[in-house]
Amino acid sequence: MQKPLLIFSTFLFLGIVFAFVGKHLFELRTNARCHPQNAIYQQSHMSAESRAADLLSRMTEQEKMGQLALVEKNALTSPEDIRVYGLGALLSGAGSQPATNTPADWLALVAGFQAQAKETCLGIPLLYGIDAIHGHAGVNGATVFPHMIGLAASKDADLVRRVGKATAEELAATGIHWNFAPNLDIPKDQRWGRVYETFGSNPTTVTDLGTALLEGLQTPAETYPLVIATAKHFVGNGSMTWGTSGNATYKIDQGDSHLTEHTLRTEDLVPFKSTIQQGALVVMAGLNRWNGKMVTAQHALLTDILKKELGFTGFIVSDWYGVYSINSDRYVATVTGINAGIDMVMLPFEYKLFASDMERALTTGDISRERLDDAVRRILTVKFKAGLFDRPITTEVGLNTIGSAPHRRLAREAVQKSLVVLKNTKGALPLSRSASQILVAGDAANNLGRQAGAWTLEWQGVDGALFPGTTILQGIEETVVTKSHVRYSAHGDAATSTSRADIGIAVVGEKPYAEGVGDDPLPRLSDEDLATIKKLGTQCKTLIVVILSGRALALPAEAASWDAIVAAWLPGSEGQGVADGLFGISPLTGTLPVPWQGAF
Ligand code: BGC
Repeated sequence: MQKPLLIFSTFLFLGIVFAFVGKHLFELRTNARCHPQNAIYQQSHMSAESRAADLLSRMTEQEKMGQLALVEKNALTSPEDIRVYGLGALLSGAGSQPATNTPADWLALVAGFQAQAKETCLGIPLLYGIDAIHGHAGVNGATVFPHMIGLAASKDADLVRRVGKATAEELAATGIHWNFAPNLDIPKDQRWGRVYETFGSNPTTVTDLGTALLEGLQTPAETYPLVIATAKHFVGNGSMTWGTSGNATYKIDQGDSHLTEHTLRTEDLVPFKSTIQQGALVVMAGLNRWNGKMVTAQHALLTDILKKELGFTGFIVSDWYGVYSINSDRYVATVTGINAGIDMVMLPFEYKLFASDMERALTTGDISRERLDDAVRRILTVKFKAGLFDRPITTEVGLNTIGSAPHRRLAREAVQKSLVVLKNTKGALPLSRSASQILVAGDAANNLGRQAGAWTLEWQGVDGALFPGTTILQGIEETVVTKSHVRYSAHGDAATSTSRADIGIAVVGEKPYAEGVGDDPLPRLSDEDLATIKKLGTQCKTLIVVILSGRALALPAEAASWDAIVAAWLPGSEGQGVADGLFGISPLTGTLPVPWQGAF
């Protein structure tokens, strides 16, 4: 062989050998990084903080970026993207269910996602979030508790704590350990479509009951990870001005909260302070603006006040499109939101764009590596605190807790305590269980969907008996001495004789709505409801009007002739509780959580 050729061949050979050995060494190194044995982060006796630090030190930049993403499960092009993008968290937005909506299918769905996360190099479990805001009501078969406005009428912190615990048990049974509740908004305007999601307009009640709900949700359990609560929506979300919504189809929701810093500090911040002291691990930033600027873009609120001043060590998650609403340029929006203090971004769809924007932001230095590490450390610490690395996330042991008899009994108690008597003349209430004829009217009387309101199976709720429960009519029938004495007609046509029945009960009110869809310039009883009440009034001696609503409704002058009016809010699946209150099985002790004006 000629000398140059020999030299060339030798180099070629050595090159191939080095390439082979190098690749092998790299793989070895990669494998050594992946699925380590006895690493600090895998040791449950170590503190959450030291485990998070250890895990962080093992992560690539890409893995870190993935932890910041919160993705709607329907956005996944393929479940494998959880692994490919190292996603930190998924959510089921309202109405986003498994193909068939049973508790077992929910569990299987979440288990499938967690299996993907487990296969990642460092095996970091996902957080899976959902809005179980009045029970785990997206799941068919769950106990549907009264919406918060009803619980607020009870003013009973112990009850609310127990509701939180029961909700957490139903969540954990489906493998879900993150709830977007409690809502700590303080509504100032009854026209807002989210009043019923709140504990009412008294800051002290919001603080006391919001904290109780958080404590209940985060009740430590031996056998499953902690269900993490979310204090939302930070901050001033409830003080928006009518007509300022940033959403073209809404009026006040997602609007501008025109508030002085003094009011913000002395009212709106108070429930957040309290829940943080009680161990809130996640705070959700609102979709509102504070004095003209998106909260998600305000460093002063998120970092200076929430993290530094209040000492919040958990993570801040943005709300649905809350970061992308900052600026129409999504790169600018991402950089602004994360630099302001958002740690996890509820994208909720564009996770691929987010990955490339984050890469760009880190390369250019628009987002510093310190900020990234801070956000990831916060998220990981919460995951460790919840026990997600240590306890089985999805086991089938608890499925029968969903909609269980004890939980339904608790929901019934909650309904009983939520009823507020707006008016009771001539001692009309409580009613006699042995009345010889009771006419029931109103199309809300025998409609589970109507009494449960929105965020039940679907975002905007459902119409009718699409899930298990007891309607108010069924509750009345169960309560009276003789069931056949009860006659029902939706529009007040049940009378069979010209003589008046002892009692007429009209169950009327708002149809379900969620968020800005429910912004209403004049919340009131519909003309149809008023016609039903009027007709019923001519057929009975004592007329009782039960109002189902998410807020105070304007009542007409003729309400002066109704004998009793009861605000039942949105009681949920256990309509028996309403009947209990009407017939004196339980005392009527609820008090108004929001002002309700009227000369009735
Ligand atoms: C709501 C939040 C909710 C989120 C996720 C948003 O539209 O404002 O309260 O937690 O959706 O479903």
